[in-house]
Amino acid sequence: MSSGVPRFAHGSRVPGWDTAADLSKPAAGYPDPATVEVPEELRAEIERAMAKYPDPRSAVIPALHAAQRVHGWCSPPALSQVAAVMGLTPAYLEAIATFYDMFSTTPKGPHDIYVCTNISCSLCGADEIYDSMLDSAGDDPVFNVRAFECLGACDIAPMASVNGEYVGPLEPEDTDRIVADLRAGGEVLVDKQLRRRKVADPEANTKDFDA
Ligand code: FES
Repeated sequence: MSSGVPRFAHGSRVPGWDTAADLSKPAAGYPDPATVEVPEELRAEIERAMAKYPDPRSAVIPALHAAQRVHGWCSPPALSQVAAVMGLTPAYLEAIATFYDMFSTTPKGPHDIYVCTNISCSLCGADEIYDSMLDSAGDDPVFNVRAFECLGACDIAPMASVNGEYVGPLEPEDTDRIVADLRAGGEVLVDKQLRRRKVADPEANTKDFDA
């Protein structure tokens, strides 16, 4: 069966995260905090995160999340702003941003759709879901559709994370609904959201998820 998931001839997935560093670029130093303009809300959010840890570098991941939310991706100005607030080099931040899949160092659409194509989901038809998701999203640049490794919700395989909302088990026809729900600006696949599933604790089942 053909699939959009890139694979070696023996069947393993091509990792795709090994882009080489550009060694011809001059090393970036510490940005001068006095000359880097940082949006006030972003600065405050990063400083709040730094205050939670004995070593402020522990706040790099929440700081990058905040910068990506503000800028849309971990762009050079975004990294420079985080670096100026945290007293780190942009290179240090870029090393972290390029390691973790949830950060993007290239422009991306605002809607992150991560289709899990790891083993449990694959066995339940994830490649078909992924292909269908690509078809449904088409070339609309607002959708950032990616195949992802195990998202830790194998019990609802095949599943996807849509802007952080876990949904599953998915059928190929659900992908059109995901796109329609995102375009409508509402919640995605309400009937398939992991957080709304009934659990053994009756107290938890009475929780108001929309509060
Ligand atoms: S394999 Fe898909 S969530 Fe674990």
